Amino acid sequence: MALWSGRFTENVSEFTQRFGASLPVDKALYAQDIAGSKAHAAMLAKAGVIAQADADAIAGGLGRVQERIEAGEFAFDINDEDIHMSVERALIADIGDAGARLHTGRSRNDQVATDTRLFAKQRCEDLMAANIALRQALVKQAEAHPDVIMPGYTHLQHAQPVLFAHHMLAYVWMLARDFERLAAARRAADASPLGAAALAGTTYPLDRQMTAESLGFSRVIPNSLDAVSDRDFLLDLSYACSVSCMHLSRLCEEIVLWSTAEFDFIELSDAFSTGSSIMPQKKNPDFAELIRGKTGRVVGDLVALLVTMKALPLAYNKDLQEDKEGAIDAAKTLEDCLVCAAGMIETMAVKPESMRAQAKKGYLAATDVADYLAKKGMPFRRAHEVVGHLVLLCEQRGCDLDDLALADFQAESDLFEADITSALDLDAIVAARTTEGGTGHAVVAEQLALAKQVLAADEAAL
Ligand code: ARG
Repeated sequence: MALWSGRFTENVSEFTQRFGASLPVDKALYAQDIAGSKAHAAMLAKAGVIAQADADAIAGGLGRVQERIEAGEFAFDINDEDIHMSVERALIADIGDAGARLHTGRSRNDQVATDTRLFAKQRCEDLMAANIALRQALVKQAEAHPDVIMPGYTHLQHAQPVLFAHHMLAYVWMLARDFERLAAARRAADASPLGAAALAGTTYPLDRQMTAESLGFSRVIPNSLDAVSDRDFLLDLSYACSVSCMHLSRLCEEIVLWSTAEFDFIELSDAFSTGSSIMPQKKNPDFAELIRGKTGRVVGDLVALLVTMKALPLAYNKDLQEDKEGAIDAAKTLEDCLVCAAGMIETMAVKPESMRAQAKKGYLAATDVADYLAKKGMPFRRAHEVVGHLVLLCEQRGCDLDDLALADFQAESDLFEADITSALDLDAIVAARTTEGGTGHAVVAEQLALAKQVLAADEAAL
């Protein structure tokens, strides 16, 4: 029989017991559950609600339960419905009446909210650490290739040349924002619901500040109804995971493209590639594809929780039991994806010659030739048209802009002089983009320094 079975004369069927149980999912929260119970018992004793000897027995008994779980010796029983019941039943079996006093002034409603918040805080911190490791890998690649030029794209068409380091750093900034989102999710979780009891508080002189403090919460949730029914912190975590996974998916999409024979910008290490069971020559970027694929599930976890929450009346409803599976999955999936992406980035070989060869195709100098004319006084719109004619000429001849003779340029405008070659030189084109945040070597070096500064600050804040 369940610990709450006093008013019942019949058991639920085995099927409904399983259907209603959350133990397979929430046993992941055992450490948080035990920590919450220890804090509650210590506070009950301090407030004079239970004897100090009982609180001591509870702390000892809970310690033994934890040891058994961690040693794999704890027999989880689905009849216990959830981790709270499992731990409490084992505690009572161990220490008797003292254990049966633990749940005084507490409900599983504030208990589960407490456990889940503690768990969410920890997962945010784990993810923030994994986020930092991936940023470090990207920064290392940027630093190792300060002069490598690749085509920059819009519409996936060659647009203007950029530094490979600049491209890597774009992802570093995305991840820096992901870190902020995880920190915000951590702050959202960092408030204690313990003491809200079932929904309305209790008649016992509970010290909510004390339990909050001993569990490491920075504040107490001011409204008991809100305390037991709020899952915004899990939505925040799921959202942070979704956005970060989406960023990884974009990075991985590029890795997949860059690994093709058509691009040939990088080669993934063997440790992050797989072969084909039939085609002996294949080297597939499976792990990049997998990260891209897993993103769908993480976004699904967010949507599922939003929909679960959308019509819930106050306060606790059993629907809320559906909150943990997706959030746990989203955090675990993102963590694995971050670790995998970091290893993949760290070990990939960059192919500067292929990047450069591609950057020479597709008239990437066109904007700079137009700027050359504009700087000599021609209105930019007119210059744009002149260069358009030159590109057309190249198309007809099957050549590139730097294959044209000075006479070809001068046939379109007498502003062209011998120094037009500087507007056609890849390195000069890149170096000239000195706007703050641009792709010029000097400003990218400044950007890299800033990215490292933010990284160090984030690392220190963890
Ligand atoms: N297993 C439940 C959950 O995860 C714990 C809270 C149960 N509370 C209740 N009143 N049935 O939400």
